[in-house]
Amino acid sequence: MIPNLQINAQRLWDSLMETAKIGGTPKGGVSRLTLTDTDRQVRDWLKSECESLGCTVTVDDVGNMFAVRPGRRSDLPPIAIGSHLDTQPTGGKFDGILGVLGGLEVLKTLQGTGYETNAPLMLVNWTNEEGSRFAPAMLGSGVYAGVFDRTYADSREDRQGVTFGEAIEAIGYRGDAKAGSIKFGAMFELHIEQGPILEQEGKVIGIVQGVQGMRWYEVNLTGREAHTGSTPMHLRRDALVGAARLLDRIEAIALEHGPSAVGSVGLIEVQPNSRNVVPGHVFFTVDFRHPEDAVLDLMEQKFFAAVEEAARKGDLGVERRKIWESPAVKFDAGCIAAVRRAAEATGCTARDIISGAGHDAAYTARVAPTTMIFVPCVGGLSHNEEESTSFEECAAGVQVLLGAVLDYDRH
Ligand code: GLV
Ligand code: MN
Ligand code: MN
Ligand code: MN
Repeated sequence: MIPNLQINAQRLWDSLMETAKIGGTPKGGVSRLTLTDTDRQVRDWLKSECESLGCTVTVDDVGNMFAVRPGRRSDLPPIAIGSHLDTQPTGGKFDGILGVLGGLEVLKTLQGTGYETNAPLMLVNWTNEEGSRFAPAMLGSGVYAGVFDRTYADSREDRQGVTFGEAIEAIGYRGDAKAGSIKFGAMFELHIEQGPILEQEGKVIGIVQGVQGMRWYEVNLTGREAHTGSTPMHLRRDALVGAARLLDRIEAIALEHGPSAVGSVGLIEVQPNSRNVVPGHVFFTVDFRHPEDAVLDLMEQKFFAAVEEAARKGDLGVERRKIWESPAVKFDAGCIAAVRRAAEATGCTARDIISGAGHDAAYTARVAPTTMIFVPCVGGLSHNEEESTSFEECAAGVQVLLGAVLDYDRH
């Protein structure tokens, strides 16, 4: 039997609405890019909440934050709960932070009832999950799990040329602990689904089986700047026309491997970006995802061939590189079973699901048994200021998170 403790849904909701003001946008979303001053403010807020619960907060050298509530047995490794506080430039109020504030609500519920777990509990905020300001995504959890080293993380630059290392020093969140040295025995991450499946099927809980594979690429196309009025079409080397051909091809490649394949160009920079200059240079990013790595291999081959073809056709210089690859991940059966029992105990409707989005859990799964819990979001919409999840569904997700942690703690 999982102990019957009730989380405080109103307290959880109030904390979501309060933190949404940090970086809050006029359209009701949140813009809290990683390692900016708004990120510092929400980190400071979290730290003081954890400290007022009596938890010790430690920060590692890539800014990951760990707050520990001791258990009955200090010989057991902690059970980690959490997610990320950073957002997209036009993000919502739930992506990431629901998992952190849900974890905080779990700690508050236990504190309020004086409930002692066997293992310590550890609330985690991972640095730079989004990968929007500094690519790749999941950088903090990636250094933690040994996928990247700290020098690599420090060297990553935003589009203004500020490095991750400079940004972390600037907000004062370079901790003393070496990333990876703060161990835990399991990790549960609560998150909104960011897709339409739970809502369409009328289910409240997604029992997450794994995360699909992801690959990120960067492309530079170089042609020649020229006058748009006086340069005949056959004499142009238009970098943007080359990029347009590739954009079209990227969509086609994803459709050829559908319905699970997705391909996107989210960032494009054109130079000199003047209406009467033939574009001489284009930089753009590519994001391919699919649950099977073998399919991603095929998509990659087709994409690389398309880049060569577009360069040849437009007489363009080309530079392309894969900057990140996160293979498909399967979560831990023991953690999944704990979530399933917790969902049953709370009487929530549930279904198994694969994550289309990337999550820190994909990297913690390399070093500790891990799984995730999803709740629906309205219209499946995320990475959008309108992103929204109901009061009841947020509460249900945190109730299942609490149940899963207590269940795991007793096994
Ligand atoms: C980040 O949120 C991602 O899934 O790419
Ligand atoms: Mn997220
Ligand atoms: Mn996100
Ligand atoms: Mn993500």
